[in-house]
Amino acid sequence: MKTIACAKTFGGRTVLQAPAVELSPGRICAVVGANGSGKSTFARLLAGVLPPDGGGRTLPPSVKVGYMPQKSYAFRMTTRANILLSGGGPGRAETLMEALQIRHLARQRATGLSGGETAKMALARVLSRPCELLILDEPTASMDMESAILSEGLIQSYCLETGCAVLLITHDLQQARRMAVDALFFFRGQLWEQGPAERVLFSPQQPETHRFLEFYGGA
Ligand SMILES: Nc1ncnc2c1ncn2[C@@H]1O[C@H](COP(=O)(O)OP(=O)(O)OP(=O)(O)O)[C@@H](O)[C@H]1O
Ligand SMILES: [Mg+2]
Repeated sequence: MKTIACAKTFGGRTVLQAPAVELSPGRICAVVGANGSGKSTFARLLAGVLPPDGGGRTLPPSVKVGYMPQKSYAFRMTTRANILLSGGGPGRAETLMEALQIRHLARQRATGLSGGETAKMALARVLSRPCELLILDEPTASMDMESAILSEGLIQSYCLETGCAVLLITHDLQQARRMAVDALFFFRGQLWEQGPAERVLFSPQQPETHRFLEFYGGA
């Protein structure tokens, strides 16, 4: 599927200017870049929770999107009820709670969950239902290492089983390298480099990408 070129301006400052991007079904595309480079804004425009400059759309209207925002939201109900909000059904909710090791929190009020627990609940919620484009904005940033690895496996299985395209925003370069087939690098609101993850995340063409990766001990 192809996204539609879009831009976003806040208070006269254009924080994002993105061209159309091809996202392939059944593949994970990592989105990397420094703080404030426009990754979450891009995600929010695609998810339809923020309108682009001039209104309109950033995806064809028929595309079914699943979205986990950077700040996971907990509604004032139990963890299980939060997950069931997706409409994925109780069986799937139980399976995901079990897999993410939050089964024991099923009856707890979700607003009292820890940061990592809230993220796991939000991930279970978004993985409960199939979609065509799954947008995950730093899904494991607040999780411990074991939970992050478990989550990676679940995301990969979901991608494989549903055949959806996954846009994975992450500051964990090793995670991006483990999971992604494709990659996008944002720099100061611009899509600076895109292509196979093997190239963008290991031997980028742009000096800015190279410099960014160097901080992670990568390039
Ligand atoms: N609602 C808003 N009002 C004003 N400025 C905003 C708003 N949302 C985002 N911005 C600005 O847009 C820029 C891009 O923000 P964005 O959240 O997309 O960055 P990011 O790449 O996701 O960063 P991070 O890695 O810190 O999550 C930032 O400079 C931010 O301050
Ligand atoms: Mg962000």
